[in-house]
Amino acid sequence: MNRGLFITIEGTDGSGKTTQIRNMMEHMSSLGCKVLLTREPGGTRISESIRSIILDPAYTEMHNVTELLLYSAARAQLVEQVIKPTVAKGQTVICDRYTDSFFAYQGYGRGLDMDMLEKITTTAIDGMMPDITFFFDLDPEIGLKRRMTAAAGDRIENEVMEFHRRVYDGYKELAAKYSDRIKTIDASKPVDEVWKDVRHQLEMVLGFIRQV
Ligand code: TYD
Repeated sequence: MNRGLFITIEGTDGSGKTTQIRNMMEHMSSLGCKVLLTREPGGTRISESIRSIILDPAYTEMHNVTELLLYSAARAQLVEQVIKPTVAKGQTVICDRYTDSFFAYQGYGRGLDMDMLEKITTTAIDGMMPDITFFFDLDPEIGLKRRMTAAAGDRIENEVMEFHRRVYDGYKELAAKYSDRIKTIDASKPVDEVWKDVRHQLEMVLGFIRQV
């Protein structure tokens, strides 16, 4: 049996990933592909528990190293329990965020050592690299504005923006470095046009797989 595809979705907050993931799921299902959608951090009982610790706004004291180990622990569990077996069964896995988020947020965003991140990632994913990654490229200022409420935009919001800008610049570097795997999608276009671009890229990959 052929192994399934492993697709990951990346981008800064507010880049419109969710809508496009929904479109991808519907499109691939309509083509008769079995697709499983999962997310990071999360996707298993253990990883979802870890997610709630990582994202809990009450834990303001969390150390950067604690954060990176928690993301890696959640990832290791998801790879073993969900991604590997599903792909081995010949099904497609779409994962909302994966290792590129790790390098963009913990590496470029937090400024943690890239070699250390690489080593931990090698252990956590045990060879499960995505076949293709969609990076939804949107300036974080626009992404955050999309989400902004009247109460936003204070000092903390500005700090967050600086962080998001480092993450965004990191994503751009990753996309340039791994241009064979990472397909950059201009997410500033209207939603329908973004979907046209995603569908085009997706069909190229699906067509290629069918020929192999
Ligand atoms: P989530 O609410 O899922 O974000 P979004 O809806 O924008 O995808 O929260 C996940 C957050 O975790 C998001 O801000 C990105 C961050 N993250 C990391 O910092 N490192 C990682 O390795 C992963 C997978 C996510």
